[in-house]
Amino acid sequence: MKRYLIFGLAVLLGVQCFCACGRQRPDKPGRIQVGVACYDQSDTFLSELIGCLREELAAQERDGLEIAVTVRDAAGSQRTQDDQVMELIEMGCGVLCVNLVDRADPSEIIDLARENDVPLIFFNREPVAEDMMQWDRLYYVGAYAQQSGTMQGELAADAILEDGQADRNKDGKIQYVVIEGEAGHQDAIIRTESAVDALKKRGIQLEKLGSGMANWDRAQAQNRMQQMIGQYPNQIELVLANNDAMALGAMDAYAKLNHTGSALPLFFGIDGTEVGLEAVVDGRLAGTVYNDKEGQARAMAQIAVAAVTGQGMDQISFEKDRYVYLPYRKITE
Ligand code: BGC
Ligand code: CA
Repeated sequence: MKRYLIFGLAVLLGVQCFCACGRQRPDKPGRIQVGVACYDQSDTFLSELIGCLREELAAQERDGLEIAVTVRDAAGSQRTQDDQVMELIEMGCGVLCVNLVDRADPSEIIDLARENDVPLIFFNREPVAEDMMQWDRLYYVGAYAQQSGTMQGELAADAILEDGQADRNKDGKIQYVVIEGEAGHQDAIIRTESAVDALKKRGIQLEKLGSGMANWDRAQAQNRMQQMIGQYPNQIELVLANNDAMALGAMDAYAKLNHTGSALPLFFGIDGTEVGLEAVVDGRLAGTVYNDKEGQARAMAQIAVAAVTGQGMDQISFEKDRYVYLPYRKITE
């Protein structure tokens, strides 16, 4: 009898310790807690995308399925993001959507997720292929960088061919500058290269005057553009920006110098953010390429629910079993 008692006590203690040491799991059946880690919420496109994600997750709720969302902003620090991921897991999130700060450095996050068996959906900032193979509960949702650049180049070519005034100094070439996103981002270099290729393919003669890196940011782009306007006064005929925020920043630089009308180059962006679309409608931005944030958010919400409930994964069209890429589209009005 005594032996049984001691044994029983030992089991009880063991169970208690196990509960205290293990993470809480408030992910009861019927409730999913989704953690979202964002590289920098002051990024216009990202803040709109996360708005869409909240809506799409809410749309996945149904009788007997409640979804809670917790968003963390790393404000540009990978260390901060690693801590935030840990915190989200400890909080009991059953699935995480991660927009890496440094897309080349996801190992710590992947380890944490694997140790706790929490599936990870990376988005917008794509890890390299080897990292995506570290575990089978890793997914990526994004878009085809090359397609966005090609479309931007085609839009620019169409506008130049249509508008007899685009070659302002009539030298048969289009003098252009590029405003680039962040170094090392899959969308920055590829967008620039493919936009220029598409222009050349359409027979446009180009002369590159300069380029500036502005980290996706409107204010930084305004600065870079001001410098380039100073270097090449009245010579710039075309501005290719890797995103809308930077195209708008470039336009701000001209506005500040009171350049208007025919003194302005043609500007092109990518994203179709709210302000970007407004600028296209009122003709200040010659064109943009729509980065399908609704589609990306929907795919993320579907994967999140499927990964936790174990149902519906077969209805998602993956490439290479774990990637979803949404197509871009051209916007000119
Ligand atoms: C978007 C940019 C955004 C960047 C952030 C890109 O796909 O076009 O607007 O700043 O992602 O990672
Ligand atoms: Ca020219």
